[in-house]
Amino acid sequence: MQHFNQNIINLYGDKGKNWLHSLPKLIQEYAEDWHLTQLTPFNNLTYNYVLSAVQNTKPVILKISPDIESLRKEANALRAFAEHSCVKLYAEKDDALLIERAIPGQSLKNYFNLRDEEAIYIASDLITKLHKAPLPIENQFPHISDWLALLDQDLNIPSEYLQKARDLKNHLLETSPKNVLLHGDLHHDNILSHSNDWIAIDPKGIIGDPAYEIAAFIRNPIPDLLTIPNAKEIIEKRIQLFAHILKTPSQRIAQWNFVQAVLAWAWALEDDCDPFYFKKFTETFK
Ligand SMILES: Nc1ncnc2c1ncn2[C@@H]1O[C@H](COP(=O)(O)OP(=O)(O)O)[C@@H](O)[C@H]1O
Ligand SMILES: [Mg+2]
Repeated sequence: MQHFNQNIINLYGDKGKNWLHSLPKLIQEYAEDWHLTQLTPFNNLTYNYVLSAVQNTKPVILKISPDIESLRKEANALRAFAEHSCVKLYAEKDDALLIERAIPGQSLKNYFNLRDEEAIYIASDLITKLHKAPLPIENQFPHISDWLALLDQDLNIPSEYLQKARDLKNHLLETSPKNVLLHGDLHHDNILSHSNDWIAIDPKGIIGDPAYEIAAFIRNPIPDLLTIPNAKEIIEKRIQLFAHILKTPSQRIAQWNFVQAVLAWAWALEDDCDPFYFKKFTETFK
């Protein structure tokens, strides 16, 4: 909770402080409007306030955010992935979403690192299902090139990494085999157990090369992964196994991996967050 409060203040300043102050009242209002009981916040929060709850007898999730624009985008993405192995959107209002709760809802992070191979099969299966979602009408979602344009700006990142990331992203964009609707942030904590299967939460909704999707899993869970001695070996194995299962060239996966680590570094700088692990990742996998 301390970490969450600090994130909100770093990102939104005084507006964030006021939002944190009004949070108990907001929760109470949404609970009344949507008839929610048994509200329990999660303890792994970063930038959004997420609670499990019950609506009448239905298990639900209440997600509240100071970033209304990002919530609207998430709502759009949840609708686009409906019926494609993503949780369903039940309702939306101002700065809150009411979402289907995954049950039992264990994160795939629990498989790290003893069951890494199994986790890769699970993530690959989920990627295949998500990418069957119909490509939405034009302009509804950004293209990965819109996100990656940040790399062409002046950034406080050593030029050897930045230039390599720019060259690789240009190459990857030019040689992209097709466009699909991507989840856009498919790391371990966004993959939850549901009935006897696995389901995605928290989609960003972005259009682009299917191979782009794999990198979020490969670099996560980021601090834990990078603090174990054989991280490099694990990453290499992950790349090969994903390449084999998803019939994707391993070089493309590795290249996206590098480009996205530099992009995450750039986002961290933009948001005034500590880029330590993205920097470390980039240095280790250059
Ligand atoms: N639909 C859901 N079912 C079960 N747990 C969920 C669900 N949505 C979110 N959670 C829990 O809340 C956490 C944060 O939610 P998430 O939507 O990923 O927020 P953020 O956008 O801040 O990453 C998740 O890691 C998970 O533990
Ligand atoms: Mg998440």
